[in-house]
Amino acid sequence: MRNPSYTIIGNWKMYFSFDQAIKWIRTVKDELNEVCLQSENSLVLCPSFESLYPIQQELSHFHINLGAQDCSNYSQGAYTGQIQARSLSEINCSHCIVGHSERRSYQQETSNQTAEKVALLLENKISPVVCIGESKHEYESGKSELILSEQLKPISKIISSTSSPIPFFIAYEPIWSIGTGIIPENNYLEQIFSFIKTNTNQWSNKKSIHLLYGGSVNAKTCLIIKSVKNVEGFLIGKASTDFQELKKIVLSL
Ligand code: PGA
Repeated sequence: MRNPSYTIIGNWKMYFSFDQAIKWIRTVKDELNEVCLQSENSLVLCPSFESLYPIQQELSHFHINLGAQDCSNYSQGAYTGQIQARSLSEINCSHCIVGHSERRSYQQETSNQTAEKVALLLENKISPVVCIGESKHEYESGKSELILSEQLKPISKIISSTSSPIPFFIAYEPIWSIGTGIIPENNYLEQIFSFIKTNTNQWSNKKSIHLLYGGSVNAKTCLIIKSVKNVEGFLIGKASTDFQELKKIVLSL
């Protein structure tokens, strides 16, 4: 596989129903595949669980990867409503988002549970996409780095104790930027990405860690943020559900 310049991950959240997601894919898959072939970047789409398998069937010979939006922190057993990391691997998911701020706030997911999910994903050869980020209040009171290092601590234990060669992603998503249309200043992002880089450089197994930015990314904002050092890709919510916007992003980076 070629070495991508940027990894672009579309987090479809719960924007589409099952029918809408399948229709979106069937309508644009050929053109989107052409776009991905023309670009040096790699694209991962993360639809809701129920659409994963049928979309995997639609995209099986395409240059578009598939990711899940979450997985269980248990490997198997009596956990009603949860999804095994192993099942995600069996349907060829290459990536899985964990620790998203929406799960941390609506489902009370803790950083320790996020780390348990990371361990299961690595066992199943799926790239974890770990989301970290501070709230507006924490940002305004100068606590961003403290919050980020607390969120990273349990992850660092897992990564340091694994010999897995699977690429690993950390998405910095300031909560105050998600869905608001507000993006941080580049000099603030320089400082934060350098902080995360320094932190992850101390982990003993650090060879395949890639840093992404997420929060109000669209075809315009990605061009501003791409100049920030250490940014290797983007985690994109709303804009990834708009084909024209997604196409512009993949082609312009
Ligand atoms: P947004 O969401 O691009 O709609 O701001 C990003 C995310 O929550 O991953």
